[in-house]
Amino acid sequence: MPAIPIKTHTLFEKCHIHVADTVLLPSLFTMITPQTIQQITNRIDIIDVVGEFVKLKKRGSNYLGLCPFHGEKSPSFTVSPAKEIYKCFGCGRSGNAIGFLMEHEKYTYVEAMRWLAGRYNVEIEETEVSNEVKIAQQAAESLHIINSFAQKFFTGQLFDSDDGKAIALSYLEERGFKEEITRKFQLGYNPAYGNLFAKAAVAQQYNPELLVKSGLVASRDNGLVDNYRGRIIFPIHNNTGKIIGFGARVIGKAEKAPKYINTPENEIYVKSKILYGSYFARQAIDRADECLLVEGYTDVISLHQAGIENVVASGGTSLTVDQLRIVKKYTDNLTIIYDGDKAGVKAALRGLDMALEESLNVKLVLIPDNEDPDSYVNKVGAAEFKQFVADNRKDFILFQLEVMLQDAGDDVTKKSQVVNQVAETISKIDRAEDFTRRQDYINKCAGLLRIDETGLTTLVNKYKRDRVGKDEKRSRVEDTGVAEADAPDTTGHPDETSLLLNEDYPQEKNILHVLLEYGLNLWDEERTMAQYIFDELEQFDFNSPALLALYNEYRRQYEEGAEPTAKTLLYHPDEQVRNTVVTVTMVAYELSQRWDEKLENMNILNRDTSHQDVLMSVNFFKLRKIKKMFEENQRNMTTNKPLPELMKLIEIHNHLKTVEREITKQLGSVIVK
Ligand code: UTP
Ligand code: MN
Repeated sequence: MPAIPIKTHTLFEKCHIHVADTVLLPSLFTMITPQTIQQITNRIDIIDVVGEFVKLKKRGSNYLGLCPFHGEKSPSFTVSPAKEIYKCFGCGRSGNAIGFLMEHEKYTYVEAMRWLAGRYNVEIEETEVSNEVKIAQQAAESLHIINSFAQKFFTGQLFDSDDGKAIALSYLEERGFKEEITRKFQLGYNPAYGNLFAKAAVAQQYNPELLVKSGLVASRDNGLVDNYRGRIIFPIHNNTGKIIGFGARVIGKAEKAPKYINTPENEIYVKSKILYGSYFARQAIDRADECLLVEGYTDVISLHQAGIENVVASGGTSLTVDQLRIVKKYTDNLTIIYDGDKAGVKAALRGLDMALEESLNVKLVLIPDNEDPDSYVNKVGAAEFKQFVADNRKDFILFQLEVMLQDAGDDVTKKSQVVNQVAETISKIDRAEDFTRRQDYINKCAGLLRIDETGLTTLVNKYKRDRVGKDEKRSRVEDTGVAEADAPDTTGHPDETSLLLNEDYPQEKNILHVLLEYGLNLWDEERTMAQYIFDELEQFDFNSPALLALYNEYRRQYEEGAEPTAKTLLYHPDEQVRNTVVTVTMVAYELSQRWDEKLENMNILNRDTSHQDVLMSVNFFKLRKIKKMFEENQRNMTTNKPLPELMKLIEIHNHLKTVEREITKQLGSVIVK
């Protein structure tokens, strides 16, 4: 155990003074160098990497196979060696070689890099990371070590001390937890008196600051004291089995003190990213292709004991997007098992919309009669519990609809609210690959509501557009830091055309496409095409946050002299950046083809079209933006304004008109529809 570094007067202090002194834990404080990443990415052959896991056949310039991410009988999984990406036209998954390894093997980015380095015999060169990162990593590693020490101490107290056996172990036994399961989940006990843990930790010379940070002790005038006194301790593991924190439960009924005390947020305990039990459940979730979600620690442990192992707990608060993404890594099927009381239902419904946005199939099971999964499985046994879940699994959306319809009764106003609510919920099933699922819900819900299916579809689409508008607005506010107080709130009164005009996406996407494709080519004697694009777009904003992020990242790398291209950015550590690159490059680039048709007479077909493409993309982009400004300006003019302000608006109006004319002239006779 590399315990030395975290003890008092050794590394923790040292790292503030001699920061270069990293020999103690070399592998922790380093990062793969950009050169190594370059070497690896240069050698990647995506056919070779994917071919390791999927049987591929050549079809034209692509390779085809059965998708490893969803069950299928005829192949729709395509790999393009030229673009270095894969895409499944069945389930919609796509990415590059690294993304494939991350998705298929559940590797982290760094793990995927190491796998590739091994495969292509690239020696991994590592650099030191910045001091801040280093200190955070040191703290994180130290906290892991302290937690591991604490867990052993608490488990020892539970099984070997008289107090532990008499008070804690007997309580656990009484609740039906057998020794085997108690040991598997590494439960423990911290005595009520004597600050035994604090004393043991100090005797081991663990750093007091870190001990406080771990939440295990508190600092008082007379020294360190235990925080979790007279409590049963539930260690919380991360996905690799390391202990990141604890939940500490009072024994028996909680009267004065809180029932559970949890680790405070620190370098390794980030509540929003924790699913209790995920370490023990991973393989079972994979096997069952379903994840059961309960509320509490004891629910997870009791179900495990009953042989139901594909279960994790949210910790009693509403679900977060990060938690749902952990689930999504293993399965698309989430079954929420909550108490049947009002609070339980409410808590469950709160997670619904986010789960839908993450493309999860959500089912709900409500446990009856004031029981929770722990007490219920103890009451009826494993077989009956499983049967109950199987029989009472309700589709989440339909469940929500039933509950609301019951509430509404014959009240027409309430009923129309229900229709709206359902449409809004369905509108969140938004991904391209979910199209069939969405249609299915529209069909079923229209049936239950006894309304026309087409009408419901229209309503769902309206909510979808509303949200797109809102998101864009929000991102603009975030970008500039100021709300656009004067902008008319189109989202409040969605009128078809104005919302559609909000869609700058195709134009923005084209910019990124040409930037990635031609950015490093020369525009003129002085500038690259990238520089030209930056100069031209200086005064305009992107609406799509994802495209903006990619644009900024490209620009940052470019300005650092890194020569970014679609291929290099495909290996970016940030998943969002990688995905956006795929979106931008994967979709057939039809625009330039259409221009070629339009410009056929100019005989540019066999020429390098990069200038044309860049110019067109920039101009169409500007035109779209100007058109929008123009409309906004016009809306402002129609409201009652004092004369000087009106004059100003007219001036802007004229200016925009001029710019528009110039661009249109440049574009030849092309008119934007
Ligand atoms: P419950 O009150 O349902 O507890 O809270 P439980 O898990 O069923 O525990 P037992 O069976 O009574 O022993 C559900 C979860 O909410 C969190 C814990 O994660 C708990 O497991 N919780 C609850 C807290 O964090 N603090 C509290 O004070 C109460
Ligand atoms: Mn319980």
